[in-house]
Amino acid sequence: MPDPGTILGIETSCDETAAAVYDGRRGLLAHVIHSQAAMHSEYGGVVPELAARDHAGRIHALVRETLRQAGLGCGDLGAIAYTAGPGLIGALLVGGSFAAGLAAATGAGLVPVHHLEGHLLAPMLEERRPEFPFLALLVSGGHTLIARVDGVGRYHILGDTLDDAAGEAFDKTAKTLGLPYPGGPQLARLAQDGRPGRFRFARPMTDRPGLEFSFSGLKTAVLTALPADADTQTRADLALAFEEAVTDTLAIKCRRALDESGLERLVVAGGVGANRRLRQKLADMAAQRGAELYFPRPEFCTDNAAMIAYAGWARRAEALSPGSAILARARWPLHQLQPPPAQAA
Ligand code: KG4
Ligand code: ZN
Repeated sequence: MPDPGTILGIETSCDETAAAVYDGRRGLLAHVIHSQAAMHSEYGGVVPELAARDHAGRIHALVRETLRQAGLGCGDLGAIAYTAGPGLIGALLVGGSFAAGLAAATGAGLVPVHHLEGHLLAPMLEERRPEFPFLALLVSGGHTLIARVDGVGRYHILGDTLDDAAGEAFDKTAKTLGLPYPGGPQLARLAQDGRPGRFRFARPMTDRPGLEFSFSGLKTAVLTALPADADTQTRADLALAFEEAVTDTLAIKCRRALDESGLERLVVAGGVGANRRLRQKLADMAAQRGAELYFPRPEFCTDNAAMIAYAGWARRAEALSPGSAILARARWPLHQLQPPPAQAA
């Protein structure tokens, strides 16, 4: 008999093909990720059609390997959770179709998961996990927001970005500095050789009240400051000044959100949460005021299926019967989510 608390998670919303198994009693049993970054780097960004085709070519073997590592067979799964959006529609359909096929073959339930809910709940995979309510800074390639999280499905967005997401700003600025895709981690590496003080950029939107962000001006500021014949040192100095501006801005807004909400618990999620300088700044800020700070491990900050399997577990009471229509939404506002119905532990 399959255990209803044993969930396979599948993530294919962008350029990572990933699968994982989360079990309510035993925790995370296995997780496997394949990144398509090298394939897309030739084109300077994710090519949606190539992403979908590559997911389709890999998903079967990747799920088999995940189940092998978990020591499970297909028949042991209580439900299959898959990322239903937001994301690239073709890529989402590959994961959704595979999940639906496997569910039809095994009789497991199907749980469509919101990708950002996965990111917000990722810290729950760690041994030291936050209690609700907490504030979450979600900083990824597609999103930058501060939310109050009162429970699963109980998200209140306090601040959003008016233009580029933080990760998008990292990626675009990295491109300006001549770095290959995906630029965020590469820019962070280049910034390590930067000399402080040579350039300084504004901390956008910190001089007015509110928790909104705007990062597109920063990338233009870097472009304007970049000499045509910039040497490696100059590019490193610019990378450092840019990274300082983005991470300072994020830390300032997080401090403000803690002040305004009265909460002293902050969770950081999403790909930019892997950034060392950001982690250090937030750790300093939290230590100064005695706030609790939670990070998922870096591989669970970027896209992964462990967070999808966990979110699927949290929503297992909503599992659809095998054979249900595949859900795939390119756009899916987070505030549309509802808490799951009460479920047995
Ligand atoms: O969460 P994620 O894997 O995918 C989305 O859902 O968007 O986030 C990817 C983003 C990319 O923009 C990438 O450049 C950025 O996270 N990123 C970083 C670092 N690692 C990943 N940005 C800055 N510093 C890093 N160390
Ligand atoms: Zn993501």
